[in-house]
Amino acid sequence: MGGNANILRAAIMASGNGSNAENILRHAAAHPSKIEIPLVVCDKAGAGVIARAESAGAACAVIERTQGKKAQEDAILSALAAHNIEWIFLAGYMAILSPSFVAAYRGRIVNIHPSLLPAFPGRDGYGDAYRANVGESGVTLHYVDEGVDTGPIIAQARFERAAKDTLDEFRARGMRLEYKLYRDFIDHLIRERAA
Ligand code: GRF
Repeated sequence: MGGNANILRAAIMASGNGSNAENILRHAAAHPSKIEIPLVVCDKAGAGVIARAESAGAACAVIERTQGKKAQEDAILSALAAHNIEWIFLAGYMAILSPSFVAAYRGRIVNIHPSLLPAFPGRDGYGDAYRANVGESGVTLHYVDEGVDTGPIIAQARFERAAKDTLDEFRARGMRLEYKLYRDFIDHLIRERAA
């Protein structure tokens, strides 16, 4: 493949709007000699992340579950291998990875979750925390294991809920922290690689 073996090679996997993906791609683009993100994998045709990836110059592979989960994950693993990907950043990827997929990248798959895990795992962290009337919530960056939002925690960040917060305002407080946790983690990976 040539290139600089010291450059971190990561892929993003996402299903939706893609604001985290865009934030990660921008941060990587600011460190071109340290990290490269040549590939975004999206499992939903038409998702916002596809256009965001393309305008950031990353290839976007849309790999849906039409032939079943095994065929889909095999196709994803092939795309990752074709791009020599070491790290996977999940950014709003709304499916659970199978144990064999997790095993293929064990310790190198990271997810951002919109609650202070172990509180409010699952699909709607902001909505669940908001409806539970918590006075404080937060976001969690964690390694992915075979469970649902159960892997070892890398970092958490907290925010206070204002009494007048709508769900959208509550979510916006968290999203800013999601972006920051991913940027900080990438900085950490870069420092670790340089050491
Ligand atoms: C984020 O809140 C993330 O924590 C959750 O899904 C949402 C994705 O948002 N897993 P976006 O697609 O990155 O804008």
